[in-house]
Amino acid sequence: MYSRIIGTGSHLPEKILSNHDLEKMVDTSHDWIFSRTGINERHIAGENELASDLAVPASRRAMESAGIEADEIDLVIVATTTPDMLFPSTATILQSKLGIRNNCPAFDVQAVCTGFIYALATADCYLKSGKYRHALVVGTEVLSRIIDWTDRSTCVLFGDGAGAVVLKSGETPGILSSHLHADGSYNPILAAPGRVCNGKIRGSPFVSMNGNAVFKIAVNVLEQVAEEAMQANRMSPSDIDWLVPHQANIRIIEATAKKLSMDMERVVVTVDRHGNTSAASIPLALDHVAREGRFREGETLLMEGVGGGITWGSLLLKW
Ligand code: UT7
Repeated sequence: MYSRIIGTGSHLPEKILSNHDLEKMVDTSHDWIFSRTGINERHIAGENELASDLAVPASRRAMESAGIEADEIDLVIVATTTPDMLFPSTATILQSKLGIRNNCPAFDVQAVCTGFIYALATADCYLKSGKYRHALVVGTEVLSRIIDWTDRSTCVLFGDGAGAVVLKSGETPGILSSHLHADGSYNPILAAPGRVCNGKIRGSPFVSMNGNAVFKIAVNVLEQVAEEAMQANRMSPSDIDWLVPHQANIRIIEATAKKLSMDMERVVVTVDRHGNTSAASIPLALDHVAREGRFREGETLLMEGVGGGITWGSLLLKW
């Protein structure tokens, strides 16, 4: 038994914040941002738009492209670093907004930028065991809420958005392997450490990052986890048709592709149009190419991500 992606969808908020807009807000330039990160613009959610609100249109598009109705979903998993509220989970809020009324399980997964990989790997375990038939797996973020817009070292990097897939269990090969990792000793290098305590926020509620340290770790673990996935499936880079990496920085993506000897034409890059959208970045990139009809049935995709924790992981699958 396998689980296979049968539909994708995504949604970006209407408001665009360009690099030139940021030049007016902090001491930065389009050239610095674009040359260091590959980011051109990012989307910013409206004041009252929550992670679940971005997830709704992304999920509807995924269900529409899968050709299934809301009540056929029997598992909802949402990966997010910016949930609507402390509780209930964003997944249950999404379940309600989508009108899924069959009492199926719904829960959140928090692995920051690796969240979508963790969520998809979790759904895969349930589906290939035969327990559920259709899972809705979503990555959705309103990172703009936890960004200090006066800190040029972080505010130019992140954006808001959502991406979703529908997974179906069956005999046709889909997800072939997942490999998940974490090393909690790296917690301090990328965090939003604030916490709610007696009605007040204690500590900074904004993203803080040691960019250089994260960069070096990211390039290493992304190569390692790709090698691990290929070894487990007795494949080499020439067997991978598409690399779908976390969209944080074009230089990290290019360095990983180079280490794997993969031509950039086989690497999905969308970071220029939405920046780092954390758990939403991989499904956003996936949907972009899927909608253009560029993935062919039976092609092999390698998804990989790295993020706060540090967490990292991969999924190798047949389209
Ligand atoms: O999603 C997973 C988590 N995140 C990541 O994967 C991000 C990983 N890290 C990165 O992408 C890169 O480290 C950054 C894009 C964040 C930074 O690029 P860098 O090449 O590592 O630059 P840097 O931190 O070494 O900074 C170089 C200079 C510094 O100035 P000095 O000290 O050399 O005078 C910074 O103050 O660039 C300066 N700087 C800026 N200048 C203009 C930092 N931010 C900006 C800015 N505009 N926005």
